[in-house]
Amino acid sequence: MSKRSLTFVCQNCGAAFSRWQGKCEACSEWNTLSEEGAERSAGPGRKAGKGRLFALEALTGEAHDAPRLASGLAELDRVTGGGFVRGSVLLVGGDPGIGKSTLLIQAAAALARAGHRAVYISGEEAVAQVRLRADRLGLREAAVELAAETSVEDIIATLSEGKIPRLIVIDSIQTMWTDMVESAPGTVTQVRGSAQGLIRFAKKTGAAIILVGHVTKDGQIAGPRVVEHMVDAVLSFEGEGSHQFRILRAVKNRFGPTDEIGVFEMTGAGLREVANPSELFLSERDLGQPGTAVFAGIEGTRPLLVEIQALVAPTSLGTPRRAVVGWDPSRLSMILAVLEAHCGVRLGGHDVYLNVAGGMRIQEPAGDLAAAAALVSSLANAPLPADAVYFGEVSLSGAVRPVAQSAARLKEAAKLGFNQAIVPEAVRTEAVEPGLKVTDVRSLTALVADIAARGKAPRLVKTGGQDR
Ligand code: TYD
Ligand code: MG
Repeated sequence: MSKRSLTFVCQNCGAAFSRWQGKCEACSEWNTLSEEGAERSAGPGRKAGKGRLFALEALTGEAHDAPRLASGLAELDRVTGGGFVRGSVLLVGGDPGIGKSTLLIQAAAALARAGHRAVYISGEEAVAQVRLRADRLGLREAAVELAAETSVEDIIATLSEGKIPRLIVIDSIQTMWTDMVESAPGTVTQVRGSAQGLIRFAKKTGAAIILVGHVTKDGQIAGPRVVEHMVDAVLSFEGEGSHQFRILRAVKNRFGPTDEIGVFEMTGAGLREVANPSELFLSERDLGQPGTAVFAGIEGTRPLLVEIQALVAPTSLGTPRRAVVGWDPSRLSMILAVLEAHCGVRLGGHDVYLNVAGGMRIQEPAGDLAAAAALVSSLANAPLPADAVYFGEVSLSGAVRPVAQSAARLKEAAKLGFNQAIVPEAVRTEAVEPGLKVTDVRSLTALVADIAARGKAPRLVKTGGQDR
């Protein structure tokens, strides 16, 4: 099969076909094929025919010197694994309006202030608009070089002149187009072609490039799914529109960890780094209200205390509602099932709402115990102690199981002035923090009994017989 005849490309999965058809046979999506020209040549200045010989190298050879360049934004550096690696390409994805452009102009300005050449190329906004934003951020004086350009060849030609920039921001990859490909801007082939050109430039010159990518409604980086495989790191910038803070997460990172997060707060003067996120997430806490529990969590290597809120109320519907924000709905179902089956807590006639305060998203199973405590506290109308933190995984048998990094969790709780920790049994023998009373629970039944005993309306909870 000749490659040149394949000219219809699926915009969803990138499969190529020789003629148009309504349905892509590769991914079964409808109406996604569009005509695209074949790439003109396989590489820059490459003639067809015999290949060039190259030398193979040993693994023990020399690595790049000073490979990282710290951005000056500590939260960004934490996520990238210590700064931008020379010649690396980073993709930053996120919803429109979340603050990608703001973050990157701030990073570029910080580098420029440190004396490095930083270039910001916008394909979406005019130079005046970018200037206006920089003005608002108080970055007017920073020596960032700006341009509003969309042609990859022009960009590469311009940047090859003079001193090679240390950082190039391309905002966004979807607006870029290259002469090497004959399809319309924004198509998969164009995005891939443009990214390829820029990646090649980065590897050749050692400049670090950041590509901005838009995210579709279902949370994927539109079009550049294909680009995700080509770049060195993919970061996603998340946040709830109604909340002030934003979380930067590494989805893929060839040079660092993928479980670190960076926390920022969107203020009138741009993004502010939040060095101690626990304080932020706990700042507006309703002390002494039933239905709230503080979870001592870990994000990457960093402990993070967040408040879990639950509301359990009698339902007026045939099928009670289960709504959850910031947590896995199937874990909520599991906890409810364990409460019903092992602890005698009847929830069939109640609506259950669970919310992780501040727009945070909990992904680790260690949140089970705190969620269960919040649920029972709301049902029994029994406020939990305001100075207590909870963590532990709940198993289907109702046992509370130990989780990783207990010492770090306890340390953070002690640091923020908490006096009690309710934890799985195995933790008790581990590191002890001064001023922190560590109470262990072996099973969810014991926890339910404890909370019900504090309740203002304990009749709501019928504990299931055996204690501890
Ligand atoms: P922007 O960086 O343009 O988002 P993106 O590039 O991801 O689409 O940020 C836009 C939002 O950020 C906008 O809704 C206003 C808000 N914002 C602030 O609250 N303060 C600021 O200083 C700036 C520059 C933006
Ligand atoms: Mg933008």
